Amino acid sequence: MEKEINKNKSLEFEEHVAFITGGGRGFGKAFGQALMKRGARIVLADIDSAAAEEAAAELRASGGEALPVKCDVADEIQVAAAIELAVSEYGGIDILINNAGLHSAAYAEPMSSSGINKLRRLFDVNVMGVIICSLAARQAMAGRVDSVIINISSSAAYDYPTAYGVSKLAVRGLTITMARDFKAYGIRVNAIAPGLIYTETIRKELPEWVLDTVKKQQILDREGDVKDIVEAMLYLASARSAFITGETLRVSGGFTLAI
Ligand SMILES: NC(=O)c1ccc[n+]([C@@H]2O[C@H](COP(=O)([O-])OP(=O)(O)OC[C@H]3O[C@@H](n4cnc5c(N)ncnc54)[C@H](O)[C@@H]3O)[C@@H](O)[C@H]2O)c1
Repeated sequence: MEKEINKNKSLEFEEHVAFITGGGRGFGKAFGQALMKRGARIVLADIDSAAAEEAAAELRASGGEALPVKCDVADEIQVAAAIELAVSEYGGIDILINNAGLHSAAYAEPMSSSGINKLRRLFDVNVMGVIICSLAARQAMAGRVDSVIINISSSAAYDYPTAYGVSKLAVRGLTITMARDFKAYGIRVNAIAPGLIYTETIRKELPEWVLDTVKKQQILDREGDVKDIVEAMLYLASARSAFITGETLRVSGGFTLAI
């Protein structure tokens, strides 16, 4: 049987290894599918091991190589072990996508009602997770051809006054800091700031009126789709964006854009 990946028009990421955090569902799983179709071998790291395993099995069923690994991005020891596994199985890492993040409605409440534990966990995962994974992966990414880190920020990082928005603002800032630091390793670092994108989690958690309100604040009059974020990721992961580093690309249909 001809493998699906061989039918694809382009194997732009052949010989590449992509390590994707939060790879068990949502954007992370879709990133894995898109990169695998274009020839990459995929590591799906997720705190939810069942989701990672299921997603990896789905990817392998379409003919590519995918490895699930249980890993909490806020835990240095688990992250180091996951990176080590990726290196021992696939020889290195070309694309790191820092995608795992806490973003449910539960994290959009006012800071004063969140409590310290919840806020600490939010920043541990959304901010320290990016730092921990990037520092752990940099040696495995050094010296490869055009290796890239893509951080997933949010349009909430621009004008959404919640602790979640601030955690994603930190991701934007870190993207510039890391772009400077990791140049020495030959790594470009960019970020994507998605608007509201209709993943399963979002549909389950957000009431219809919130989705409608967000849509009204966009310039473009349609729902954001996971494919929109995948396209941005493919561009930033590829040599087509070779002169871009330290940037955050908003993919939000123009959500609350202002001068
Ligand atoms: N969906 C949107 O509208 C939207 C908009 C802006 C930004 N984002 C950001 O995009 C990223 C992915 O969003 P999504 O909608 O695909 O989310 P999702 O909730 O559908 O999936 C997130 C995945 O991350 C995993 N995860 C959570 N905490 C983890 C941890 N500590 N370590 C490892 N894995 C962990 C979960 O198990 C899950 O599989 C998040 O960083 C989110 O903040 C999403």
